[in-house]
Amino acid sequence: MPKGLADSEEYALRLSAEEIRRYRSKAEHAARTEGAAWADCGVNPGARVLDLGCGPGAILPDLAARVSPGGLVVGIDQDPDAVATAAALAQEARLANVSVRQGSATRTGLDPDSFDVIMIRNVLVHAGQQAGKIVGHAASLLRPGGCLYLADIDGTAVRWDAVDSGLVDLYRRFEDFLVATRGADLSIGPKLGSYLRAAGLDVFMRQAFYQVVNPVPDGGAPWAARDAMAQAGFASADDVDLWEKASSRTAANPDSVVFVPTFSAAGRRREHGGTVEVIEDTEPASAGQGRIPSP
Ligand SMILES: C[S@@+](CC[C@H](N)C(=O)[O-])C[C@H]1O[C@@H](n2cnc3c(N)ncnc32)[C@H](O)[C@@H]1O
Repeated sequence: MPKGLADSEEYALRLSAEEIRRYRSKAEHAARTEGAAWADCGVNPGARVLDLGCGPGAILPDLAARVSPGGLVVGIDQDPDAVATAAALAQEARLANVSVRQGSATRTGLDPDSFDVIMIRNVLVHAGQQAGKIVGHAASLLRPGGCLYLADIDGTAVRWDAVDSGLVDLYRRFEDFLVATRGADLSIGPKLGSYLRAAGLDVFMRQAFYQVVNPVPDGGAPWAARDAMAQAGFASADDVDLWEKASSRTAANPDSVVFVPTFSAAGRRREHGGTVEVIEDTEPASAGQGRIPSP
């Protein structure tokens, strides 16, 4: 069971060793299920790829291998712990074509029109009102013909079997916490195509896959965020005690299983679309966000 203190005001997840293992397991599943779509987007030898909101860098080694020889991968995240973990991973794995730096997904400071592919994974669900702005900024960093690839969960479509009800309660409470404190959109996954379109990109791919986790090893991100939830009034000491026991019982049950859905969508910037005009703080449904003027 991870020992957690979610002390970031910006983000509720903390990077225990267990969390990092969870990120890497998700990244391996993504590479298996989404790899062909990444290639269609241009994650191929020689490509310049940005992983925006890279977290602890779980996907970086795979991207680095796919763009070799000749390509490069840049990881950006606002969380200094995540950046340090990702940089250490890149160094340990001797990924000479990877650089990681701290920065905001709405204002990276990177050159416009400079990436072949930009990936944003498991970031927008937490972004609330910032989601459209993040997608619009990413679109502005694509070269004409470049591709923006979004992947995110639908938290309302997670399914369970043989899982202790206390653990389900932890997940439900975490969802309430994210919605109330971050304005999270838990069902953002199926809407990713709309975000791409609102940023002026041509949507050419949508997919969805379930990751099957058996047995359920721990309370995952909700457990890691338990202290932040308690501080915000979403959990008592009794709740945390109940959740810990429920997690242990579930982990000990070889039949316990959780099915976690990831949705993805890809959009391409038009070859002759001029520059991307990013309009700040607009919602995806509204006109103009990251609009690319017609040729
Ligand atoms: C759930 S993690 C996903 C990490 C990685 N993309 C993955 O799928 O393994 C979300 C990451 O997004 C980062 N993030 C969220 N909002 C951000 C923003 N506005 N600017 C930069 N990073 C952000 C968080 O710090 C966190 O590391």
